[in-house]
Amino acid sequence: MKSPGIIVTTSKRPTYEIEQAARSIALRCSVPYVPRKRGRIISVERLCSEHEARAAYVVSRQRHEIRALGGGQAFVNPGPLHVFLRVGRTHPLIRALCPPGEAELTHMVDATLGLAKNAICIAGVFGCEVLGLESSPLMACLLEEGLPRLIREEGYWSKPASHVSVHHADASEWLESAGADMTDVVYLDPMFEAPIPHPMTDVFRLIADTRPLSGRLLNAALRAAKRRVVYRIPSTLPTESAGPVPGIWTTRVRGKHVDYLVAPARSATVDI
Ligand SMILES: C[S@@+](CC[C@H](N)C(=O)[O-])C[C@H]1O[C@@H](n2cnc3c(N)ncnc32)[C@H](O)[C@@H]1O
Repeated sequence: MKSPGIIVTTSKRPTYEIEQAARSIALRCSVPYVPRKRGRIISVERLCSEHEARAAYVVSRQRHEIRALGGGQAFVNPGPLHVFLRVGRTHPLIRALCPPGEAELTHMVDATLGLAKNAICIAGVFGCEVLGLESSPLMACLLEEGLPRLIREEGYWSKPASHVSVHHADASEWLESAGADMTDVVYLDPMFEAPIPHPMTDVFRLIADTRPLSGRLLNAALRAAKRRVVYRIPSTLPTESAGPVPGIWTTRVRGKHVDYLVAPARSATVDI
């Protein structure tokens, strides 16, 4: 997948290893590598402007991050883990994945891993393994750097992060090649078609796979899950308009800005 509008660069005074890491990410993701130094150090903003890029993937000793022209950063972090640990199984996402009274999840697949915020929170609440799938190469690079970093930091987020794995793959293809009933639950959180406004939304959409939920992915998820498939949608979207087969969703768990639709595993598969 091409990522137009993005460059890869480094921190101000990169070591040889940092430069090599940045070059190899650029090569892997088919994105231009632009060195920070041309006799003197050039700002990330200037490099972006010169290359007509809207953002830069910046490799430094501390972390890898996306920096947007005009402000804003994105990198792998524990997100709202502290909230999930406080509210536990009462959180709408957690109730959708595992309704009250049911045995805790031991394994689940996050088929649209993103920056793994949901995955880390789910692993934190259940202590379960979360197998993450991510099709965007730049997002996969952020995850491959960020998850081991969170583990090394030895914070309250380190154990949950250690339960999340990342596979750079298209979720439909990966799930189709995995066996049936290979996990308790499959979670689907593709990019919203009408995104909730946020300063980083445009940049996120630049690097992410923005395809809407397809019948193929839904089918693969229903086959892979032993218990259910959960699909995150904006709270303004009616269930009748959600996904390729709206009739498949039997439960809607309401949150503040987003809701979670639930389909029991092995619901009638989708005609694709
Ligand atoms: C809205 S983000 C997910 C955010 C995530 N739930 C979190 O908490 O950080 C959607 C992610 O799914 C990825 N994606 C979309 N379609 C995919 C597919 N078919 N296979 C794998 N990843 C996919 C996108 O690249 C993007 O990173």
